[in-house]
This record gives sequence, C-alpha cells and structure tokens, in this order.
Amino acid sequence: MSSPRRVLIFDTTLRDGEQSPGCSMNLAEKLEMAGALAELGVDIMEAGFPIASPGDFEAVREISRTIRGPVICGLARCNDADIDRAWEALQHAIRPRIHVFLATSAIHREFKLRMTTDEIVARAVAGVQRAKRHCDDIEFSPEDAARTEHDFLCRVVEAAIDAGATTVNIPDTVGYATPQQMGATIAMLRNRVPNIDRAVISVHCHNDLGLAVANSLSGVENGAGQIECTINGIGERAGNCALEEVVMALRTRHDFYGCETAVNTRRLVPTSRLLSSITGMQVQRNKAIVGRNAFAHEAGIHQDGMLKERRTYEIMAPEDVGFQKTDLVLGKHSGRAALADRARALGFELTGDQLQRVFDDFKRLCDKKKEVYDGDLIAMIEGRLSESPRDEWQLIAFEVASGSGRRPMARLTLRRGAQEVTEESADGDGPIDAAFLAAERITGLKLHCKDFQVRSTSLGHDAQADVTLEIEHEGKTYRGRGVSTDSVEATVKALLNAANRIASGAV
Ligand code: KIV
Ligand code: ZN
Repeated sequence: MSSPRRVLIFDTTLRDGEQSPGCSMNLAEKLEMAGALAELGVDIMEAGFPIASPGDFEAVREISRTIRGPVICGLARCNDADIDRAWEALQHAIRPRIHVFLATSAIHREFKLRMTTDEIVARAVAGVQRAKRHCDDIEFSPEDAARTEHDFLCRVVEAAIDAGATTVNIPDTVGYATPQQMGATIAMLRNRVPNIDRAVISVHCHNDLGLAVANSLSGVENGAGQIECTINGIGERAGNCALEEVVMALRTRHDFYGCETAVNTRRLVPTSRLLSSITGMQVQRNKAIVGRNAFAHEAGIHQDGMLKERRTYEIMAPEDVGFQKTDLVLGKHSGRAALADRARALGFELTGDQLQRVFDDFKRLCDKKKEVYDGDLIAMIEGRLSESPRDEWQLIAFEVASGSGRRPMARLTLRRGAQEVTEESADGDGPIDAAFLAAERITGLKLHCKDFQVRSTSLGHDAQADVTLEIEHEGKTYRGRGVSTDSVEATVKALLNAANRIASGAV
C-alpha cells in the first residue's frame, strides 16, 4: 500500500491576511499569532512583507528570531531592495524562505508593469537569483497566474526553476478561476514544464467568487504539493482560502484526496478564536468548521438521528477541530485550578498574573450571573489579554442617565497613568454618544466611531455584552473591545481600549 501524499500548509495570515482592512495587528499580536500558528503545525508561515513598512520588517525579524518549527517566509517584489530587505529580516530564522513575486498576466504586463514578456522573464530570473544568494529555499509567484496565457506561464515557471526557485506558487490573485480551470492549470504545468519536478507546485487562491477552497483542492487533486491559506480565510477583499476548511476537507475526505497535512486539527478552533479576538473580526455563526453553529443540530429529525448514531448527520467530530463537548462551565464555587483547566481546554495558556486577574473577574461575574458559559469565559480572557500593562487610561467609574423626555448624559471618571483622576460629563443623542463625548473631553482625543458591534457572549438576558469598535483618529483606524454584563460599561471599556491603542500608537 502506498503511503499518503503529504500536502504542505503555507499560512499567510500574517501577510496576505493582515494586509486586509480591519485585520492589522501590532507586533505583540503578530508574535502571539505566530506562536499559535507554530503550535497548530503549519509547515510554512509567511510572516510579512518586510519592505512594506518598519512594522512589517520588525515583525518578520522578531518572528524569525523567536518562533521555532515552521519555515519562516518573507515576501519581496522582484527587485534587489525588496529582496535584500526581506533577507535582513529573515536572516535569524532557522529555516528561512524568500518569496519573490512578479505579475505575468497580459493585463498586469500592459497596464501595471508596462513590461514585455522578455523583460518579465529576465526580471523574474534576476529576482530568484538575487534571493538565492541569501538562502536556498526560494518561492516564486507569477502574480495573476490564473489569468496568464499558458505558454507564457510555462516559460516563466521554467525560467524561475532554472534560476533556483524551489517552490512555484500559482496565484489566482483576483479569485477568477473555477475549480476545473485551476486544476487544469496545475495539470498543464506538470505536463509541459520540463523541470517541474525540481520544485513544489503551490496554489494561492482568493475567494472573490467563494471558490478559494474548492480551487485549492482542485489544485491538490492535480498535483499541487502546497496550499497557501489563512486562518478564518481573512485576506484581500473576500479573503484567501480558509486554512481550517481546506485542512478539514483533506482530512475528512482522505478517502478521496489521499493526502495528509501536519496540522493539529484540535487547535483549529482556538487559533480561529485567537485571531478573531486579536483583530475584532468575528466569523459568521454558520462558518464551516469554526463557526458557532458548525456543529449545532436544530431540526428534530436531525437531533433524533444524532442521538441514535452521531454519524447520521455529523461528518466530523466537534472535538477533532477543537470544540469542547460541554458549554456549561464554572460557578461561584469553582476555584483557580478549575478555571485554569477550563481556560487551557479552550486554548488559553494563562500566566500566573493573567490567571489571577481573570480569576478576580470571574468571581465578580459569578456575583452577577449564576451560570458562566464558555463564551463568557473566552470573552473575559480575551478582554484581559488585549490589555497592555502600559494602558494610559483606566476606568474608575461611570454613570449614565437616559429616559423618555430627557436628554441622555454620561459621567466618566478616568485615571491617567499612575495617579491623576479626571471626571467629565457630557450629554448626547444617547448614553453612548454622551460617553464618547465625555471620553473625548477627558482624553483630548477626537474619537470618530466607524463601526460598533455588540454581541452576546452566551445565553440568557443576563449574558455579557461583547462590544467591538473601530475608531478613526487622524486618518488611522484603531480597534477597541470591552466586555461586561452592562452593555454601556462594555462600550466605555471598548472606547478606552481604543483610546489606549491611540495613545500607544498601536492599531
Ligand atoms: O494574491 C497574490 O497574487 C499574492 C502574491 C503576492 C502571491 O498574494
Ligand atoms: Zn494573495
């Protein structure tokens, strides 16, 4: 019996994912995410685009220095400055990879690059050769490959492999391909490029038509050995191929694909949640694999079938992707050890100090709420983890008043730094508007709210409100998050979280 084919998982959450609106992360957040991706078992992690910004450079450098396990990759356009900068950031990685890209489709050649086909081949070869001076592991991407003429695509791919590319990635940059086409392109390259056996073929599919996972799987069916994907499918526009979906498709339909990955699938839900909590971008309830409803059975017939034999309506076990069997957790008699244990089961490894703070919050919550669910616990932990020890503003007290026939008002008392306490009141169109105005008066920051979302962390009318905000300040967007059984308090906390990010310069 032949052994199953191994497909490499190339995660680009920190590069293609992070460059999409609403998903930017600061250095500490990228490092936390990189640690989670290593634990998840991705083979390659694209840590950023070092020349794009000092923040990207620093993130790739720190991830290269500290994260062990996966290959660490940095993106570069096909020019010396980009490639040398990528290497500068990657040089401390145990297994570095430089990923160079250059567009090849007629539309990009004519309108974006204004280059002839000969010039494109020469630039691609020069780029790969330059990168090869730094390290052995080189990936080349002909950007917009899915819309590139086949003859020219074969020519560029062959030249890049001859120049030293060890992986050739075939991007469907604009999410235009269909599964049949994507598969046919990979099969065509395998048939027509004479040196193709010297490189791994990779697929990189965008989701503009909702086909990114299907297109990637079709690539694998036709011989691709690497899939580029992101957690929760985040990425440019409609996003990239979702890692959790493609990995579980390969695993669940092993009978069909005959492929394996090295991903520890039990880490999928915790990793997905971590990303949502860092970026504030929640997945939809019915999102495959990691959505809250992904394993919920509502119809009576389904529930009956499930009770008789789980496999009647379940093709995967929730535990296999990291969902916990029970949702009801702790109560007021639970101790610190039980809390730490539950937090660990949910994917959070808390340090002594963090555990103490979460435990204090938990005890306070137990006074307000009889049943503490996983959702409550997750929101509480994530709220604490998103705080920084150097937060400029802290909430001491707040008060709001609103009602029929009266103008709503809010009074906030905040502490700045070590001692200074300031109190301000304002009235507004509603208590939240008033709280924003009072916060603006105290902090002196202009807080323009671009997005405001409230979710319930669990069941019941005593559930906690989980508020996420996007605040625009001097042309930049900052996130804020706050959790409380009181939705106004949750909003004030989210608002201060955003104000603290503005003060620290973190997005
Ligand atoms: O979508 C794309 O073409 C890319 C390349 C840089 C690989 O992200
Ligand atoms: Zn992309």
